[in-house]
Formats: sequence, structure tokens, C-alpha cells
Amino acid sequence: MNILGIETSCDETAAAVVADGTKMLSNVVVSQIDIHAEYGGVIPEIAARSHIEAILPVVNKALSDAFGTAGSKKLEAGSSNTPDTRFQIPDSDPWDNIDAIAVTQGPGLIGSLLIGTLTARTLAILKNKPLIPVNHVVAHTYANFITGSRKQEAGSWNGDAYDQNSPAYPRFPLLSLSVSGGHSHLLLFNGHNDYRLLGATLDDAAGEAFDKVAKILGLPYPGGPSVSKAALEGDPNRYDFPKANLGRDSLAFSFSGLKTAVLRLAQHEAGLDISAPSSLISDKLSKQQINDIAASFQRIICETLVDKLELAAKLYQPKSVVVAGGVAANQALRDEVSRRLDYEMHYAPMSLCTDNAAMIASLAYFVQEAGTTANPHTLMADSSLTV
Ligand code: KG4
Ligand code: ZN
Repeated sequence: MNILGIETSCDETAAAVVADGTKMLSNVVVSQIDIHAEYGGVIPEIAARSHIEAILPVVNKALSDAFGTAGSKKLEAGSSNTPDTRFQIPDSDPWDNIDAIAVTQGPGLIGSLLIGTLTARTLAILKNKPLIPVNHVVAHTYANFITGSRKQEAGSWNGDAYDQNSPAYPRFPLLSLSVSGGHSHLLLFNGHNDYRLLGATLDDAAGEAFDKVAKILGLPYPGGPSVSKAALEGDPNRYDFPKANLGRDSLAFSFSGLKTAVLRLAQHEAGLDISAPSSLISDKLSKQQINDIAASFQRIICETLVDKLELAAKLYQPKSVVVAGGVAANQALRDEVSRRLDYEMHYAPMSLCTDNAAMIASLAYFVQEAGTTANPHTLMADSSLTV
């Protein structure tokens, strides 16, 4: 079953075709990072407008990457060998290969979500395809079920059909640490369509903390890649930052105190008082101070994430553990996980950790197996959709 996925929850316009939930036939992502970098973060109004411009070309490219373009038969036009597109007749319509359309329903920025959901609803009506609504946060974990691709080799897929018991795929019970710019969740899956939230952040998401610390240190948006790059040249033990104490048995996270601790330390090191705005700090810090603060912050946030992941693994004894979401692209986090956890681990390729539509199409396959589809005339985007 081929599903076209559409994702527009934040600042990436994405479409992908995935077969049977696991085989990626195409994966197109147009990022708005360059536009938002100028402002140091995502501007929702600009994000929504950019989605409008990109969505149809992105969908078309996902279809043509997967199945080729319609119109390979050409009528002869005069004696010229140059194909004249006016005389092409389609011999196959890529839409004939699509069995359903999946779309991110939420959570995310409402203006951005509306572009994806309205596009998917319209296409579902016009092309007469079932419409499958997908939860973006849950979908991040499903990037780890995409193991094969016709165009790109990703992971260890050897052409076999999906097998729930094969270690090539995450096995249930599956513990997932899903960490991105908008959420930080620990999820326990006992099967497809059978999952629950074990703990979430009470305030900032982990990726959001990276983004805010980057701003304090004068590093470019998005903060995750720039902070981790600076950290490579820094001493992770130069500074000690506090970890939020939410109780020994708690599986919740809190990162707003850590972000404030970084701000206070950076102000102090820059010789400024606590009323100094972030924009004045980085000019007064040396390159080495910036790198050391980045490395020390990264050490604490990775330790905190793994403290909770380790506790959840002890409590629930999963068969496999997944680290998903944009922050899963962080190498220091992966290193800390491998140092401390002895479980069957799954990481998606870096390009599938951050937002993409292949994960949406993958989860949608399992969602529709449980019989869930949406009415294309009424599906509403939900910016605060919960797990
Ligand atoms: O999953 P994602 O693309 O979008 C959301 O659903 O939010 O995640 C984006 C977040 C950003 O906050 C970004 O700073 C963070 O993931 N991120 C990273 C890295 N790459 C992206 N955080 C830490 N280290 C990275 N290498
Ligand atoms: Zn995301």
C-alpha cells in the first residue's frame, strides 16, 4: 500500500511516498531555515506563507521521484528531436499508484498545519483517496520503521517485508525518547496503535533549550546543530549547571531552569548584570568561553535526557529503545545513550530525525490498519493535539 504523506507542522514543507509503512519511495523536504535564521527563530506568519508557495511543487516532486512523471509517451512534433511538452500525453498518472493520503493533524503552528491539512483534504476529495490524520509527535518514532528506500539506502533493510519480530525494526514493547523543538516525550508502545505517554516536559522542549542557548551565545538558528558544533571545541566540564529535581521516580522533564542558569552564567562571564539582554552577551565572551558554555550545557541536557530514559527502561523493560525527533540528530546524546543503556537501540538516519513526511506516511499505514481514516470535508488541524 503506497501512502503519500504531507507534513507542514512547523518550518519544513514536506511530502513523501512510503510503501507498506516501511519502504521509502520518495522523501522531499523544503526547509525554511534560511528564512527564519534571519530572525533567530520561526516566525509563524512567514512559515504559513512559505508553505503555501512550496506545498504543491513539493507534492508533485514526491510523486515524480517515486513513480516518474506522467507523459513519457510523446507525439512527434515536426522533425525536431527536442521533446515538446505541449504534445505529451500521459501514459500513466502517478496518482494511480497512491492508495491513501496522510497528513499531520497536529501538534504544531496552526497557520502551518492549516496549509497541510487543507491541501491533503482537497487532494483526497479530488483524487478520491482515503485521508489519514497523523499525530506529529508519535510519527517521529516511526522514522525508525523506515529501513528501506528505492532511491536512498537507509539502514539495514534487505528487501524483506516488514516483520514485527525482526531486530531490523524496533520491537515491542518499544520505549521511545522523542525530543524536538516542540516536545520532549517518553512514550511506551506495546504495539502499533497501542501507546501511552510516560512523561513529558513541564516547560521548554529540549530542542527549544538548544535554540535559546544558541541565541544567548550568539550562535545561528537552529540552535541544535550550532551548539553541538561549538561544543566540539569546548570543555564539557568547565561549567556545572543544575539539573531540575522533579523527584527520583518522575519521568517528566524541565529545561527552563537550565536555560536561565546558562543565561546567568553567560551574563556573569561577560561581566554584565542580570538585566543585560541576551543580544549584548556574546560580543563580550571569548570564542573559548562560548564553546565551553555550549559543551557544558550540552553535557547536562544529554545527561538529563538519558537519566530519564534509563529510569523508564528499568521500569518498563522494553525490547527496543528508540531515540527520535530533531534532537536525536545530536551525536553527544547518541554517545551518552550508548555509554549507559544496554538495549536494542534504533536511531533514524540524521535526515529522518528532523521533520519529514516519510515518518507521517509510515505511521499512517499502521493507523489505517486499525481502521482510522478522516472525513476530508471536515478534518480540522489541531495545534495542541496530545498523545
Ligand atoms: O523534529 P524537528 O525538526 O522539529 C520539531 O518537531 O520541533 O526538531 C527541530 C529541533 C530544533 O529545536 C533543533 O535545534 C533541534 O531539533 N536539533 C538538534 C540537532 N539538530 C536539530 N538539537 C541538538 N543537536 C542537533 N544536532
Ligand atoms: Zn517534529
